[in-house]
This record gives sequence, structure tokens and C-alpha cells, in this order.
Amino acid sequence: MKREDTMNLAQDAAVQPVAHAALSAQQPQQQGQQQQPVVELKDVHKSFGSNQVLKGVSFAIPKGQVVAIIGKSGSGKSTALRCIDRLEIIDSGTINVCGHAVHDPAIDLRQLRQDVGIVFQSYNLFPHLTVEQNITLAPKAVKNLPTAKAREIAARTLQQVGLADKAQAYPEQLSGGQQQRVAIARSLAMEPQVMLFDEVTSALDPQLTGEVLRVIEALAQGGMTMVLVTHEMEFAARVADTIIYMHEGKVWETGPGAMLKNPQTAELRDFLSHGL
Ligand SMILES: Nc1ncnc2c1ncn2[C@@H]1O[C@H](COP(=O)(O)OP(=O)(O)OP(=O)(O)O)[C@@H](O)[C@H]1O
Ligand SMILES: [Mg+2]
Repeated sequence: MKREDTMNLAQDAAVQPVAHAALSAQQPQQQGQQQQPVVELKDVHKSFGSNQVLKGVSFAIPKGQVVAIIGKSGSGKSTALRCIDRLEIIDSGTINVCGHAVHDPAIDLRQLRQDVGIVFQSYNLFPHLTVEQNITLAPKAVKNLPTAKAREIAARTLQQVGLADKAQAYPEQLSGGQQQRVAIARSLAMEPQVMLFDEVTSALDPQLTGEVLRVIEALAQGGMTMVLVTHEMEFAARVADTIIYMHEGKVWETGPGAMLKNPQTAELRDFLSHGL
């Protein structure tokens, strides 16, 4: 992660009431050295029926950066994340991810999903398969990897999440935190360019939460580009290069972790003081 590479946020005042000074001030120096962002949303709108859920969301994430999305329940965090992987189809705006135009109906979903890993609160491991079989399934089926190669990758990703000794275990023999780490290993086995995490620790007790967060932090330190939707504020402030506070379907306030100590809008102040 390179902090000086800080997000090149689209400067749309209508949808971004506050971009913290620290973030904006860095932008002019970066011109010329900026690569194409790995993830870029521009003026994304999404409704479910008459419910306007995303009302012009724009942000960009350079390679190797971590963005944490925070905000009240119903503010559109999961929807924004799901749009990045085209699990939801946007109404207008553009989303580019690893060179894929996600808004384009002609997109090759198989290619997109090879580049984007997504992990949810529920781990959805197959109970009748071992940990290793759960992990090797997609590399074999989607990438046509031979079993030996897929097993090699499974061993490596299990090592990454601290579960090298659990390859032959079944999901029910593992704690919730361990199962979530297997789900992360399963995603990593596809060797994605970007990882999306949607409240992956919400169902876990504090001790298990810690072990999953440590895995995510290690991924961040290893340079993985990531979007984390999280309610873990301290974790977000520590690990994320940029925090996005979403409110009523908009990027309401954005900045480095320190912005949580110095909120600029009444809405973020209120959110931080009242919790969720
Ligand atoms: N598939 C769907 N069909 C209809 N409405 C949906 C769908 N998904 C989300 N919504 C609605 O969109 C709004 C935003 O939901 P979203 O899940 O993005 O919020 P969130 O910020 O992730 O909240 P939480 O913190 O509770 O997870 C909510 O009003 C929700 O009811
Ligand atoms: Mg959600």
C-alpha cells in the first residue's frame, strides 16, 4: 500500500459533500504518476422499484489501496459493493473494474469474476466437501486447473489465512472465524486483482472477529486492492487508506482514517456518536 497514492476521487460536489483536505491536497502532486484505478465508479445510480438506493456514487481506488465503506444500515453500502461485481446492475453511470466496463451489458462476467473476489457475512461453504475441496472447486471448474495445481494453490491460500492444518477438515469441524477464513482463502485461490468484503465479521464474536480482521490486515499489507464494508471503526481507521462515509445513497464524507476523529458533517458526527 502506498499512502501517497491516495484515491483520486471524482470531484462531484453534488454527491460528495465533503472530501477531507488531506486527501484533496495530495491530488495535484500525483498527476502523471497515477495509474488507471483498479476500481472506478462514476455517478452511479441504482433503484429498487421506487427506492432510490444509490444517488450518484463516485469513487476510485488505485492499485494496492484499501477503502473502507461505513454508514448507517440502509445507506447503500452493500448495494455499492455488489454493483462492483455486477451482482446488481446499475441504472446509470459507469463502473470500471480491472479494465472491465461493468456497466456494459456485453461484459464477460466470467472474466470480471476472476478478477474480483467477494466475501460476505455468511461464508456459504459446501458442508459435504472438505476445506481443500471447497477451495479447489472454482479454480478447477472456472480456470480448468489440474487438481495438483489447484491443491497447491489451496495450500498456499490456507497458509495465508493461518489454516494450513485444516485442509482435510469439514466446515462443521471449524469455528465461525475459521470458516470465514476458509471463505477468504477460497476467494484468494482465484487470484483476484481486487477483494470486496461485506461485513465479514458481523456474525462473529469478538475473539473470532479479531482473527479474521488480522487476515484482512495482512492482505492489505501485502498490497491487495480491497473494499471493506465494515462496522469496525477502529479497524477501518487503521487499515484503510481512505474511508467513505455513505449516507442516504451518497458518498457523504471521505478522507483518510483520521477523518473519524474529526468529522466534518453533522451526519457523520451523529453516526459516530450513536454507533449503528
Ligand atoms: N435486492 C433488493 N431488492 C430490493 N431492495 C433492496 C435490495 N437490496 C437492497 N435493497 C434496499 O436498498 C437499500 C440499501 O440496502 P443496502 O443493503 O445496500 O444497505 P447497507 O448500507 O448495506 O445496510 P446494512 O448496514 O444494513 O447492511 C435498503 O433500503 C434495502 O432495503
Ligand atoms: Mg449491507
